[in-house]
Amino acid sequence: AVVGTPIPHESAALHVTGTALYTDDLINATPHPLHGYPVQSSHAHARIIGLRTAPATAVPGVVRVLTAADVPGINDSGSKHDEPLFPTDEVMYHGQPVCWVLGETLESARLGAAAVQVDYEPLPALVTVADAITAESFHGDRPTMSRGDLGIGFDSAAQVIDGVTECAGQEHFYLETQAALAMIDDGGQVFVQASTQHPTETQDIVAHVLGLSAHRVTVQCLRMGGGFGGKEMQPHGFAAVAALGATLTGRPTRIRLPRHLDITITGKRHGFHAAWRAGFDEDGRIVALDVTLTADGGWSLDLSEPVLARAMCHVDNAYWIPNIVIRGRIAKCHKTSQTAFRGFGGPQGMLVIEDILGRIAPRLRISARELRRRNFYRPGQPTPYGQQVRHAERLSTAWQQLTDIAEVERRESEIAAFNADHDQRKRGLAMTPVKFGISFNLTAFNQAGALVIVYKDGSVLINHGGTEMGQGLHTKMLQVAATALGVPLDAVRLAPTRTDKVPNTSATAASSGSDLNGAAVQNACRQIIDRLAAVAAPLLDVPADEVRFDHGIVTAAGAERQLAWSELVGAAYRQRVQLSAAGFYRTEGLHWDASVMQGEPFKYFAYGVAASEVEVSRFDGSYRLRRVDIVHDVGDSLSPLVDLGQIEGGFVQGVGWLTIEDLRWDTGNGPDRGRLTTRAASTYKLPSFSELPPIFNVSLLDNAHEDGAVYGSKAVGEPPLMLAFSVREALRQAVAAFGPPDRPVELASPATPEQVYWAIERCRS
Ligand code: MTE
Ligand code: HPA
Ligand code: CA
Repeated sequence: AVVGTPIPHESAALHVTGTALYTDDLINATPHPLHGYPVQSSHAHARIIGLRTAPATAVPGVVRVLTAADVPGINDSGSKHDEPLFPTDEVMYHGQPVCWVLGETLESARLGAAAVQVDYEPLPALVTVADAITAESFHGDRPTMSRGDLGIGFDSAAQVIDGVTECAGQEHFYLETQAALAMIDDGGQVFVQASTQHPTETQDIVAHVLGLSAHRVTVQCLRMGGGFGGKEMQPHGFAAVAALGATLTGRPTRIRLPRHLDITITGKRHGFHAAWRAGFDEDGRIVALDVTLTADGGWSLDLSEPVLARAMCHVDNAYWIPNIVIRGRIAKCHKTSQTAFRGFGGPQGMLVIEDILGRIAPRLRISARELRRRNFYRPGQPTPYGQQVRHAERLSTAWQQLTDIAEVERRESEIAAFNADHDQRKRGLAMTPVKFGISFNLTAFNQAGALVIVYKDGSVLINHGGTEMGQGLHTKMLQVAATALGVPLDAVRLAPTRTDKVPNTSATAASSGSDLNGAAVQNACRQIIDRLAAVAAPLLDVPADEVRFDHGIVTAAGAERQLAWSELVGAAYRQRVQLSAAGFYRTEGLHWDASVMQGEPFKYFAYGVAASEVEVSRFDGSYRLRRVDIVHDVGDSLSPLVDLGQIEGGFVQGVGWLTIEDLRWDTGNGPDRGRLTTRAASTYKLPSFSELPPIFNVSLLDNAHEDGAVYGSKAVGEPPLMLAFSVREALRQAVAAFGPPDRPVELASPATPEQVYWAIERCRS
């Protein structure tokens, strides 16, 4: 079958030859577009008391300035109605667009924006989560999840520790910045090409900003140069500005953010603050956990509520915690509106329990590796939100496999010997597990559609509701369609994602793109196959249910002849049989009660385990990743090369978040308070080739067929990111080796060399 074959990404050749087109490249085919550039707030929080746009119109090349007064519909770009597209009273973060200038060139628009005069009356700004907690500035729901009895749990504990764990946010740093290109079609219909993970929501927001019905707005996404969650909500406002510009001027209007605009305007991963108290029994089993999670939501709600819900659903990670209370809240402060980012709160939730286990192990005098294993879920133990952990045994299986593959025991003794011999450099090795729930917590989002077209010559064109951001979704969908129709891969082509082909889609997010759209594509193909089998049966002289479609040949066991696929398709056309089908899929069996945070929000869990080894230098806290081994569960892989790429890429992105990417805002009380100071690749360090471990072994877990998912496969986009905890925990081990035995190590996140240096100093003192 074509599914399961290791093939390259469908656009790999285009990517590496620079010929793949992205939204902004389409501009070349567009005559005389206008370019948009924002006027950005120079305060983190201020009242707007004056706005003069006339000086901009005097700048050569400036065509128009877009302000709130121009909006014919609703001046809002969020799904919660708390994100004015053009703020009129108050600016809520440093860099927030106040209005947009349209020019004949990007440069004229930029000069125009610089000429706009805005008068501000500065207001107090909350910049850190700690500021917001002190000021009790929160927004959205404040949910609680609980199970068991904390009092009984803590009474039975042999050791109780409490602490605070904080983690930073993360900039998406997709290579392609936010981009949209809008034009007006015949009769005033609006056509927007956008770099968006959620074309339907972009359509909804463009429509309500323009005051149009959805059927007058079409959104297309060809492909994205990375999204990582940063194009789940954030593209809508830019698309709306472009669409407004096109509507008012009648000319194609283009927004493409230079990097410093993208990084200062758009939301990031939520940083989190967690205050916790944990109890352990004599054997190191967790008996009670009480934790309050505060997400750094930024100025507007955006996706902060579902991010918080996913964080709360992942505090347990792979561990059974009998008595638990998790409280959640969202800090409202004067920063970018934090948003979806690969893992979507899951990493931040898991970090808490991994941090607790890493810290307590020395006090319990149990190795961190054994402590983790001992606390794994066993079959039959439900999560704190009441869902059975199906296939929990895969955790122990994968853990054992990894221990063998990575020769963990032998290397642990080698590392102990190395550390005994070296004063200035120490090594550490750590293993961590991942259990990640697959599906959108909001049940309604777990649906998808597809449109499969077979042309008279037998060639196939598929559309589906998912978007391509480099993750290989389209590659997998081509494989699914080729397999389901029984045709060779090259008989199938995939068309760009468009809201007028497949409507009412969900974001390509939550790693569910191939589960949802794959099942919808398969459903459409099966409808066509059923019709074609009825045409083939009399020709082959067999019952319809015996007709087989394989690699372009249509036949049946015992049949005397066979038909070429194209021959059968031609015959079906002449018999007036419909050769296209709309497919649909909804995930069955999900339910979620957000008011009590209980239910079965996930179709299944994806599992993975990682072992990482690092070496740390005492002089400057610098470190190197020496070796990484991973065993990860993707079910029966739809596309093994794509999945390997996702595991490696997700892991490295997680390592970036946990170790080197360091967002800084000006927290001083001067005029730049709240300004993002890391606004380019020169100050915001991303992982690159030089951070890759020289030994990096990834294996897929065997015998992992997932019943009820498309061709037995599992989602892969997000879960591997959290395998990066193994690196953070390995750093903790290495730091600990500088101090006396059994001294607990606290490590900041990100564990930058600077932070590792200070952790070593604390450990040695
Ligand atoms: N891989 C690449 N190359 N680029 C991306 O932007 N986004 C990730 C992941 N892998 C991303 C990626 C995120 S955040 C998600 S949710 C999934 O891909 C989305 O796609 P899927 O549902 O098809 O896995
Ligand atoms: N990831 C996980 N869960 C989600 C997402 C996402 O990007 N979006 C909505 N729920
Ligand atoms: Ca937010």
